[in-house]
This record gives sequence, C-alpha cells and structure tokens, in this order.
Amino acid sequence: MMSEEKKKAKLNKETFRKSLKLYKYIKPYRGEFAVGLIFLLLSSAANLAFPKYLGDLVDATNTDKIVENIQEVSLILIGILVAQAIVSFFRVVLFVNVTEKTLASLRQATYTHLIKLPISFFNKKRVGELNSRISSDISLLQETFTTTIAEFIRQLVIIIGGVVILLFTSPKLTLFMLAILPVVVVIAIFFGRFIRKYSKDVQGQVAESNTIVEETLQGIFNVKAFANEFLEMGRYKTKINEVARTGMKGGKYRGAFSSFIILGLFGAIVAVIWQGVNLIATGELKTGELFSFVIYSGFIGGSIGGFANVYANIQKAIGATEELMEILEEPTEDLEETKSNEKLEGFKGKLSFQNVAFEYPSRQDMQVLNNISFDALPGEQVAIVGPSGAGKSTLVSLILRFYEPSSGQILYDDKNGIDYNLSSLRNQMAVVPQDVLLFGGTIRENIAYGKPDASEEEIIAAANQANALEFIQDFPEGLETLVGERGVQLSGGQRQRVAIARAVLKNPSILILDEATSALDSESENLVQDALDKLMVGRTSIVIAHRLATVRRANKIVVLDKGEIVETGTHDELVDLENGMYRKLSELQFAH
Ligand SMILES: Nc1ncnc2c1ncn2[C@@H]1O[C@H](COP(=O)(O)OP(=O)(O)O)[C@@H](O)[C@H]1O
Ligand SMILES: [Mg+2]
Repeated sequence: MMSEEKKKAKLNKETFRKSLKLYKYIKPYRGEFAVGLIFLLLSSAANLAFPKYLGDLVDATNTDKIVENIQEVSLILIGILVAQAIVSFFRVVLFVNVTEKTLASLRQATYTHLIKLPISFFNKKRVGELNSRISSDISLLQETFTTTIAEFIRQLVIIIGGVVILLFTSPKLTLFMLAILPVVVVIAIFFGRFIRKYSKDVQGQVAESNTIVEETLQGIFNVKAFANEFLEMGRYKTKINEVARTGMKGGKYRGAFSSFIILGLFGAIVAVIWQGVNLIATGELKTGELFSFVIYSGFIGGSIGGFANVYANIQKAIGATEELMEILEEPTEDLEETKSNEKLEGFKGKLSFQNVAFEYPSRQDMQVLNNISFDALPGEQVAIVGPSGAGKSTLVSLILRFYEPSSGQILYDDKNGIDYNLSSLRNQMAVVPQDVLLFGGTIRENIAYGKPDASEEEIIAAANQANALEFIQDFPEGLETLVGERGVQLSGGQRQRVAIARAVLKNPSILILDEATSALDSESENLVQDALDKLMVGRTSIVIAHRLATVRRANKIVVLDKGEIVETGTHDELVDLENGMYRKLSELQFAH
C-alpha cells in the first residue's frame, strides 16, 4: 500500500505541469465549471453578508423606528438565505455534473490506455496495486472536484472578505483579533494533528495484539502441541500493557488539548469581546457590530482551521493526478480495432526465427535467448523441449509479440513481424497455456471469447471438438454454468478444454501450446491431448511439452538449453545422438 506521505506531491513546477494536463479532460465542460464557480463565489459572498445583517438586527432596537427596522433587516436576512439556498443548489449540481463527466472520460481514457500498454509495463507493476491505485487516485479527484475546490474558494473568500469587513467595522479590534486568533488556531491545528498521529500509533499496537490472538487461535494445534500456552500468554500480556501505556500517554495529550482549547480559543474570544466592550464603552463600536464581529471571527477562525485540511487534500490530488498522467504518458502498443477473427488475406502461418536474441527489459543483463533460428512451415508441428528455465515460454511471448527481439527478427509468412498490425497478427494465433485463467462468467461467455459473435451452433461444435461438450452437458445449467472467479469451479482439465474450445472458435493459422497438458492427471490429459491433436490439424503448431511422449510425432523437435538451440531434428534422429540432450531427457522420462 502507498503511504499517505508518499501520495502528497511536492508542489513544484514539474508536478504542476503534469497536473495541468488534467485540464484536457475538464475542458469540454469548462462553461459549466465557470458558471459553478460564479455560483460558488455568490454563495460564499452571501454567507459573508449574513453576520453583518444579524448585527444590524441587534442594533435595530437602538433606534426610534424599531419595528420597521426589524422587519426590514429580517426580510433582507430571509432574502439572503433564500438566494444562498438556490445558488448553492445549482452550484452543487453543476460541480457534480462536471466532475462525473470529467471522471467518466478520465476513467475511460485510463482504461483504454492501460489495456493497450505492452506486457513489459505489467511486468514492472503489480496489477492489484495498479488497479487500487488508479481507483483511489480517481476517487481522490472526485472529492477534490466536488468538495475540496469549493471549500478552498469558500474559505478564501471568507478569510479575505471577513477581514476586510472587520477592518471597516473596527480596525482597532480587527488588529487585536488578528494578533491572537490565527496563532491560537494554528497551534490548535498542529496539536490536533499530533494527537491524531498518536491515536494511530495506539491503533497500530492494538492491531498487533490482535494478530497475536488471531495467529495463536488459528494455529492452536501448534500452540498446544508445543506446550507454548504460557509463552503466548506472556507475549500477549507484554503487548497489551504497551497498548495501555501508549493509550494513557495519549490521554494526557488529549487532556492538555482540551485545556488548551478552553483557555486558548475561548480565552481569545473572551479577550476580543472584552476589548470590544471597551470600545462600546468609549462609543467607538455598536453592540450589533460587536455581535457580528464575534461571528465573523468565528468564521475566520474556522476557515483558517479548515484551510490546513484543504491544502493537504489539494496536495494529495495533485500527487494523484501526477501519477495518473504518468501512466497516460507510457507508450502503448500499436493496436487497431479489427474484427475478432478476421483472417489476414492469404496468411499461411509460416513462422521463422532468424538469429533472435532477447533479454527482458526488467533484467537487461541476463540474456534469455541467444542466436535462435528455426522455421515452422505452414501446417507443420514443431516441438520445443528443454529443461525448465531454458526460455521456452519466452519464445512464446516473442511469437505473440509481447516483446520485441533485441536483435534478429521473427518472420511471419516471410514478412517481419513489425510490418504487421499487432492486432491482426495476434488474431492469426491462439495459445493454450499451462494454467488457463477463465473470466468469471458462464462457460458460454468463456468459449465465445475466441469469437465474440459466434452462433450457438458454432459454440456447441467448438465445445464438441474440444471434448468439452460431454462435461458441459452434465452440468444442470449446461453452457450457462458459472465458472466462478478465474474459473475455480471447474477442474484443471475442464478449464483446459474450455480454453481449447475458445481456440477452435478463433480458428488460428498458428497454434501455440505451452505445456498445455503438464498440470493434468493422466485421465484428463488423454481427453485434452485428443482435443489438441484435432485442433492442430492443418495449422502451424508450436508445441512446448514437458512429457516427451507427446512430441514424438512432431515434424521437428527443437531442443533448447539456457536460451540456445542445442539440437534440432526428428525424434528418431535425436534419440540416436550420443550424449544428446534430448536422448538424456527421454531416457530419464522413460526409465520408469
Ligand atoms: N517477465 C520476466 N522478466 C524477467 N525475467 C524473466 C521473465 N519471465 C521469465 N524470465 C526468465 O527468463 C528465463 C526463461 O524463462 P521461461 O521462458 O519462462 O523458461 P521456460 O518456459 O523454458 O521454463 C528464466 O531464467 C526466467 O527467470
Ligand atoms: Mg514455461
């Protein structure tokens, strides 16, 4: 999790420049936003007029025409209230409209951008963190636009306007008030923060003590088996005493804080009133003026107090914006919307590696693939074998163009991969990996992922070809069966066959199987293998297999070790090689 501190951006030119890019998303609604701002100024001004007329109401009793005066001032007060109520309504509505529309386009822009970023970006970032950061960044902006900006402006108007009005009422008293009130408020803010931080510490310690309870009760079997009850009792006691000590220390600070508020804040008010009454005595001030003076002082004090909070929120919002903008500045893949299984005209599915070398962007000093050259002719079945870590899955990523080779090239139908549009090239390929992750919908939706506009017949035919129809029909809800989050409600072999049905629908020219049967028990392996055999017919297939029995019939076997090709040939050729790696591997596997 991001710490609070880290989220607050240092306010400098660079962060400001980045944050200003947010304007692009507000721009279409700037008219509404401007009107909202005007309404905000109006309602803040009305707010400011209120204490003035309250004071007048008090002073209305000091003249001859008491009743008329009271009526007039009261009417003005009611008028102000009504005006403020109307203006506030439209202000809130306008701000919320602008915010929702802005955030909708920002959310769409972020997701659109994010989903087009290359795999190397997702290697750098943890997906969960990315997701929660974006949603928390965006809700922070929501708060900023709907409340923080309004608060900021309102408080600014109140502080400046209030001081100006007070200066007109009584410069002497204003200066007196300004000499004490802000100081007291600022001290109160820092004191308050300190106490909040302290109570967070207490909460942290309580959480730690809860962890002890949770762990030991969950692991009660271990605690008892090791006869450690007394040890745990001691551990808990120490922690709880610590909690109590911290809590009591905090209590002293809280006591001091309330004493300070009583003496400082109310003392300041009393001092202002005392000074004001003196001025009334000398005839420099009227009672009603003192009355409104005290209310203004309260407004100003409150606004100064709220300012710290607003400032912190704005800082956080700028930090959030900066991080969002950084994501939006990451270069995306060159993708283009294509029909999901549109065939490239005349694409045959020939694949050639020419002196390909590769290292991952995140680990540049480790050569993962080196000098890789081989051909897979259209319709051919090429097996890649080799020990774990040899670079087989990396090869798959390169075929899918998740990454670009650092040297050499990969040709598809004798044309360099970079000369194809990425989306349409990937549309010619399908992958069945070792661990299939399904989306948490129905079986039908998951199969149709290979061809979103597939008809009922096509889906059933695909399921049938993938040896999946039988188990699907055994479910009471058939194709409408929910697979659970990530497909957990299906067995490994069932998930695999759903993935194969998906690939059948996609009808790719190049099929890639990355250890597609490795994680299965032998019964489902047979069903899956049979489905795969059917799927491979007539397609260029790259088969990575752990169990060599499944690659015997391949047209060509490429043996990979430590990122380099060490042998190439058919099964019969390779088992004849003295000291060959393939021979060693197969002897190991078939020995028992
Ligand atoms: N995303 C990645 N970033 C950095 N290194 C990686 C990444 N994926 C794999 N590797 C490294 O590349 C090497 C080859 O991995 P891989 O292609 O998965 O091997 P195989 O599939 O043959 O078992 C390994 O040393 C692995 O640690
Ligand atoms: Mg692998």
